Amino acid sequence: GATDITLRVNGQARLLRVEPRVTLLDALRERLDLTGTKKGCDQGQCGACTVLVEGQRINSCLALAVMQQGKEITTIEGLATGDELHPMQAAFIKHDGFQCGYCTPGQILSAVACVSEGHATTDDQAREWMSGNLCRCGAYPNILAAVRDVAA
Ligand code: FES
Repeated sequence: GATDITLRVNGQARLLRVEPRVTLLDALRERLDLTGTKKGCDQGQCGACTVLVEGQRINSCLALAVMQQGKEITTIEGLATGDELHPMQAAFIKHDGFQCGYCTPGQILSAVACVSEGHATTDDQAREWMSGNLCRCGAYPNILAAVRDVAA
């Protein structure tokens, strides 16, 4: 049956009632109205649903909400500080790192982890790290430029 859980999302404790099989992605989007995190494939293949848990990226479509209690979850809604964009958000704008924008929240969170975990020191390394985040529009060169700019 459903259980009450508390998720820490973007610095706030959020109480919600979920069935055990509800994914973190569905909990964020449908229960907490945090629709910045996108659902693409729902099977761990596209990266659109990428969020940070304890600073590490995960595909939220593959994670169960009930398993994330007590962990700090960051979604795209939590990256900016007040009116000030996160440096990676600013870099995506500067380098035109998106077209339709659907994959962008996942791209940006993956990119944040890429830099914070030290995988952005060369183009090849950053490209490899970002390869799980698909972009149908083909904005890859601009995305890479944004990642490398922040890492520089
Ligand atoms: Fe999770 Fe595609 S929606 S990887």
